Amino acid sequence: MPDQPVPALPDASSLSIAEKAALTGGADFWNLHGVPSHGLPGIMMSDGPHGLRTQHDAADNLGLHDSVPATCFPPAVGLAATWSRETAAAVARAIAQEALAEGVSVVLGPGMNIKRSPLCGRNFEYFSEDPHLTGELAIAYVDALQAAGVGASVKHFALNNQETDRMRVDVQVEDRALHEIYLRAFRSVVTRSQPWTLMHSYNSVRGTTVAENRFLLTEVLRERWGFEGLVVSDWGAIVDRPAAVAAGADLQMPAAPAGQAAVEAAAESGTLDPAALDRAATKVLDLIGRGLAHRDPAAAYDVATHHAVALEAARRAIVLLENDGILPLSEDAAGLAVIGDFAQTPRYQGAGSSHVNPTRLSSALDAIRDIVGDVPFARGFVPGSEADAEALREEALDLARGAGTVLLFLGLGEDVESEGYDRTDMDLPAAQERLLQDVIDVSDRVVVVLSNGSAIRLSPQLRSASAVLEAWLLGQAGGEATADILFGRVNPSGKLAETLPLRLEDTPSYLHFPGESSRVHYGEGLFVGYRGFDALGTEVAYPFGYGLSYTTFAYADLAVAAEADGLALEVTVTNTGSRAGREVVQAYVSVPSSRLVRAPRELKGFGDVELEPGASARLRIAIPGTELQHWDVRADDWAVEAGTYRVEVGASSRDLRCRAEVELAGDERAHPATMSTTVGELLALPGGAEAIGTLLAAGAPEGEEGAGGLFDDPEMRKMAEQIPVGRFVSLVGIAPEQIQQLLDHINGC
Ligand code: BGC
Repeated sequence: MPDQPVPALPDASSLSIAEKAALTGGADFWNLHGVPSHGLPGIMMSDGPHGLRTQHDAADNLGLHDSVPATCFPPAVGLAATWSRETAAAVARAIAQEALAEGVSVVLGPGMNIKRSPLCGRNFEYFSEDPHLTGELAIAYVDALQAAGVGASVKHFALNNQETDRMRVDVQVEDRALHEIYLRAFRSVVTRSQPWTLMHSYNSVRGTTVAENRFLLTEVLRERWGFEGLVVSDWGAIVDRPAAVAAGADLQMPAAPAGQAAVEAAAESGTLDPAALDRAATKVLDLIGRGLAHRDPAAAYDVATHHAVALEAARRAIVLLENDGILPLSEDAAGLAVIGDFAQTPRYQGAGSSHVNPTRLSSALDAIRDIVGDVPFARGFVPGSEADAEALREEALDLARGAGTVLLFLGLGEDVESEGYDRTDMDLPAAQERLLQDVIDVSDRVVVVLSNGSAIRLSPQLRSASAVLEAWLLGQAGGEATADILFGRVNPSGKLAETLPLRLEDTPSYLHFPGESSRVHYGEGLFVGYRGFDALGTEVAYPFGYGLSYTTFAYADLAVAAEADGLALEVTVTNTGSRAGREVVQAYVSVPSSRLVRAPRELKGFGDVELEPGASARLRIAIPGTELQHWDVRADDWAVEAGTYRVEVGASSRDLRCRAEVELAGDERAHPATMSTTVGELLALPGGAEAIGTLLAAGAPEGEEGAGGLFDDPEMRKMAEQIPVGRFVSLVGIAPEQIQQLLDHINGC
């Protein structure tokens, strides 16, 4: 990549207030101001995340106007189902090349909010319900994009987990869920990849709009995590630019002349700290410097090569949910029929600001015909429309009746899943459910292919089909990828990055989504997705991490060792079937006798192996210490609990094949014993039992045995363990000084 001569970057302190104020906002919808007096041009940003949405003319943030043709890679929902860092990196590298060719310096992605509810309209743009998987894929994406000279903008920071009232909703979340679930992936990507930029969200958190949330934008992001990059607003998220700059935001997008004037006035009157303005201006200058240094006027890309990258990603993203042996199909058109509008008119991306104008588009119908020759097709339904429903259904059923095997393409239309609003249910449209039932009634060889951007309810009849492929949204090459899987040219290896529940009502956030009166309370706390399903033992349609293959894999010889920083594990995986295939290996960690509220198990590592039939490989997975941390509420910091850690390795969160345990010393801070420390807590400390015995005996009147007998009776003991020692003053008549002496002794004073 050619390094371009960059005009010398001025020092922010040498600029006028007006120049600095100008830097803190966009010049237009996508471009930044430069500093004309220093000959410094601005740079351009562009959506993001699964392909470029570069607009050189009419601009918008809702996907209304055209953008330049660009490769449409699988949206995050598909990319995440690959569970492949390598694939995420390949996609990001290609996007970077396209960005350089368009003169774009920052791509607005990846989106990395946690899928708290299947109903979130933007789930298709997010990776997973799990922070580890989200963080790892985001890191792979950001590292690859930035290594190629294009900045990332990880978004939407933070707690933007719904579209309902997204510009006003105030999120109430408790500390552990905040840090362990919702901020964790952002922490990972910030500390490990240093994204050039981070985009803050529209919503409020704990009463303060994120744009003006000093706790999030300064204390957490910069002070705790050491973020060195620039904070850009989501488009239109800033109302009061001086307040946003003071809180830690650096750049308001798109252009807002009133915001610029307000910053200028605030800086002149002294109500805006000059250091805050200098910080914001410096961040913008640094970003411009980085962007200019990587400009490449000769940059170009090959459309076919990038289509191939999109195809490979799509192949890895398809999850085989059911297969009674019907798949893979033989490459023979005889008796085959294709039904369902999505086969002809693919649903391959979501609606809104991430909408890409694809360079090519393959339909599954064309791809199937390319492999087996002509096959009959019936639309069956029109997504989002009731028009001609009966006639289309009849036509499809006639076709199904005469067919040996029916390939039935179902899914959600763009009208159902979009940025800007949430779904109201997770069902397939009624017309499609009815068609499915009717097709299954007339054919016992039905293969269902699903196109949807977030979990849908899979009815019992759908799950009873001969085979079911969850094909998510696969980008522009999805049609070819689907055909490759159906006919066994590629062995499926995608795994679910989100649980498919039996019913919406079973989902942990159900009672707390999307809130009311512009407030949402994350009442399920830590128990998001599989953490909640597992804690309650709820039956699901398909668990997190699940996905079948045309071959089978065996797991053996798990070895786990504590290392200086975290855990290292190794496991042997063998392809025990008759086809080559890729297996995604997942490592879940639990702490069986933890004193904390914890999910039964949490994903903490994963990797993949590609194996020929009969071949084995030893896979190594490292779990860094940070992944084992919980948020210690009393210390207001991260900590690793001491104790026995159980590691389970398997093919899904509910298909765990090997288990091993290891002791970790932990690094929790000791909290000094106080009058509020309970008897139970004291008993757990070295010397605690003895000291309490002495204390209780000392409190007894002359000649009496004292309250020490409390501990002889198991029930009394349990009750006593709950009592803070300070209460012994009134309960047992022990002098406060005596208790304090005991505490000093225990605290080693
Ligand atoms: C979206 C962002 C997007 C921006 C620019 C906003 O509506 O929330 O994700 O990057 O528009 O299009």
